[in-house]
Amino acid sequence: MNLIEQAAQRLEELRRAGADIPAGPRPIPGTGAPTLIEPGATIEASLLKERERPYDGAIAAHGPAARAPRESTQQRIELDLDRLRERGFITPDAPRNQVADEFRVVKRPIIRNALGKEGIRVKNGNLVMVTSSLPGEGKTFTSLNLALSIALEYDNTVLLVDGDVAHPTLPSLLGAPHSPGLLDLLTRDDVDVADALVKTNVEKLSILPAGSRHRRSTELLASEQMASLLRELATRYADRIIVFDSPPLLATTEARVLASLMGQIVMVVAADATSQHAVTQALATIENCEIVLMMLNKARRTDVGSYYGYYGDDAAR
Ligand SMILES: Nc1ncnc2c1ncn2[C@@H]1O[C@H](COP(=O)(O)OP(=O)(O)O)[C@@H](O)[C@H]1O
Ligand SMILES: [Mg+2]
Repeated sequence: MNLIEQAAQRLEELRRAGADIPAGPRPIPGTGAPTLIEPGATIEASLLKERERPYDGAIAAHGPAARAPRESTQQRIELDLDRLRERGFITPDAPRNQVADEFRVVKRPIIRNALGKEGIRVKNGNLVMVTSSLPGEGKTFTSLNLALSIALEYDNTVLLVDGDVAHPTLPSLLGAPHSPGLLDLLTRDDVDVADALVKTNVEKLSILPAGSRHRRSTELLASEQMASLLRELATRYADRIIVFDSPPLLATTEARVLASLMGQIVMVVAADATSQHAVTQALATIENCEIVLMMLNKARRTDVGSYYGYYGDDAAR
């Protein structure tokens, strides 16, 4: 059974179990762009679980005392928007295209969960981890596009964190400085979050780079310092959606620990590439996470050329 059939079966099971499943967009096999697999089904099912338990107030209780965000010493970078557009990323002045349209669908439930609209509070909902089973499935592509999509169309600001610390690719894509960044925040007392954030020429988008390489880079993601930083981010920047480009779940055990601290997980699945076994294994590592959205990426359609000029290079690999 392929992934889409699995999703359909899951949906049917939920319906039979009496869950009220709104009609969500269906996966579009072979469309080249990322597609959310039944966002209604995954999210609603998760929220049903969430609603059964009283909210435990953990965010407020664990968070640091409220401090006004301070961004005076922030660095700033100019993103090369033409280059990003050529590589398939959503940019402010790009003509409407299918990637932008797909991300519009993908981000809606994420924003809803993050901001607690409609009266449903998702614990740490503004912490959104983008992960996958293995490297190369499109985590960075998805995180950056998701961040751009939200920053360009919503009132909320977005912080994109380069959390795949062993293989940070955002510097080469964005020209983001290497330090100070996430790893420095985890290892040094003299760096404040506000000093590590980098503003960009996309008004509502800031970046937190991976930071200085450390011999225990990946291990640090599962440290108490990381848990504490996440609590700080979730509360100090509560009105921001914080998107974490993260390591793959099957490559490191730390990614699972990180996942357990996040409010929402976007699990990228590369169409025609990720085996069902890998997807099942990866999902098992995050089975305790309340909100997991599956996203089918890199699916192709036969008339791909007419839709996606940008897809050529990667399709040829
Ligand atoms: N939907 C897509 N369309 C076009 N190129 C994509 C798409 N998803 C990923 N890519 C490309 O595939 C390569 C691997 O993706 P990347 O996001 O770096 O993977 P990961 O971060 O999971 O290792 C990159 O060159 C990226 O630009
Ligand atoms: Mg990556």
